[in-house]
Amino acid sequence: MPRVPRIAVVGSANVDLTTFTDRFPRPGETIFGREFHLGFGGKGANQAVAARLCGAEVSMIARLGDDLFGPATVQNFRSFGIDATHVHITPSVSSGVAPIFVDTAGQNRILVIKGANDRLLPADIDAASDVLASADFIVLQLEIPLDTVYYTLRFARERNVRTILNPAPGQPLDAREIANADYLIPNETEAEAITGIALEGLEGARACAAHLIGRGQPRVIVTLGANGALLATADGMRHIPAFPVDAFDSTGAGDAFIGSLACFLASGFDESEAISRANLYAALSTLSAGTQKSFVTLEKFEAEWEGKRRGRSVAVVRD
Ligand code: RIB
Repeated sequence: MPRVPRIAVVGSANVDLTTFTDRFPRPGETIFGREFHLGFGGKGANQAVAARLCGAEVSMIARLGDDLFGPATVQNFRSFGIDATHVHITPSVSSGVAPIFVDTAGQNRILVIKGANDRLLPADIDAASDVLASADFIVLQLEIPLDTVYYTLRFARERNVRTILNPAPGQPLDAREIANADYLIPNETEAEAITGIALEGLEGARACAAHLIGRGQPRVIVTLGANGALLATADGMRHIPAFPVDAFDSTGAGDAFIGSLACFLASGFDESEAISRANLYAALSTLSAGTQKSFVTLEKFEAEWEGKRRGRSVAVVRD
């Protein structure tokens, strides 16, 4: 890898309560689930962990509750070697939590209770200004207040720090404010929520991406699951295929993509290779349960990538 990149993540940290189930109960019905996992999650924290495992120096800017999960989450960041100087406990608020349900096809349904994530304010960005101003990339998502997201994007633009905005969970956004993001990276449902354009398949992604570029977004990457990712700029569009895998649990695959991509781009890989690498990193994360727990080390990733480069089929079969 050319150089050690510095990534700052401004975002959420949750505790994930994941239930694996063959079907969902009807109103008033009680059924047995198959399995349960408790793990650290949150889109921001997941992306920070992915970037760190891929070799970046990572700083997290986040807020936690003053419950059992708060100090444990700080400890989890430290265990990965993530700088948690700007992760603060907020009195009298719960930590973010996410009940998650995963079906037999590995598909997830997620409910997020934001808790302390909603208390991450522009003042926290100012307090972390040194770390943010010296980052190669600042990475953001939407599980924190929108005002804080917009403030951070403006902060970064004024200081020439590159940014990635993952607009998840999907919601309508201020087009002028998000145009400050160097990369806007929605999945299909998020692209629909931002543009109001129904998106189906690659052609739908092209239409959404063209709309976003047309209204001033510099670079858009629409992630398409089994269909890979579509990169769009004012100069044109490029489709980067996925790596097929037999997914067990796709929860956090999008976060694996974003965090690893930030690291690969900041490391100096060209965009196509960085996206292809991130596609593989995300695919590998779907092979086991959970979010952060399913993210692979750089060593494991490079072995899989090398196998792919030599034309061997990788251990993955569906994304
Ligand atoms: O993207 C997956 C994440 O979404 C989970 O970790 C959950 O906490 C929610 O933020």
